[in-house]
Amino acid sequence: MSHKSSVIVLVLIALSSPALISAQNSAKFNEELPAGVMQQKATTACLECHEARIILQQRLSKSVWTKEVDKMLKWGAVVDANDRDALIDYLSGNFSPERAVYDAPRSAREKTRAKNTTERNTR
Ligand code: HEC
Repeated sequence: MSHKSSVIVLVLIALSSPALISAQNSAKFNEELPAGVMQQKATTACLECHEARIILQQRLSKSVWTKEVDKMLKWGAVVDANDRDALIDYLSGNFSPERAVYDAPRSAREKTRAKNTTERNTR
């Protein structure tokens, strides 16, 4: 291997390893919106600026989802006017207050659980 190509290889290794690590970390948090007729459109319209988690963790009534969607539309979400109602139904159906609380994926779940348990026990 020439000196030049070994330098290139070293640079590539240096550049790729942090990228690999962050790809592995983000995979854990890369959740999808739930299946349904609006899944694809919601994924396109709503995951443009933030990840799914901000939606998955909500437990809102239909009227609050309506306000939320209209707020996102005002902020620039691209949703066909004909899809607005179906999108609100999709979100309020999947993320209503009746649903169990969102179980957030954590990078150090066991550690966090143990810590929370200890805190609860000593209170
Ligand atoms: C133009 C960018 C953009 C698009 C597109 C977008 N959002 Fe948001 N959204 C934001 C920003 C900015 C925030 C608030 C900042 C944050 O917490 O990250 C936010 C926050 C939220 C929140 C948290 C509650 C709140 O109001 O802060 C929910 C729920 C939400 N968005 C749902 C949606 C849904 C559903 C869609 C698709 C219809 C959507 N977003 C599309 C920019 C966007």
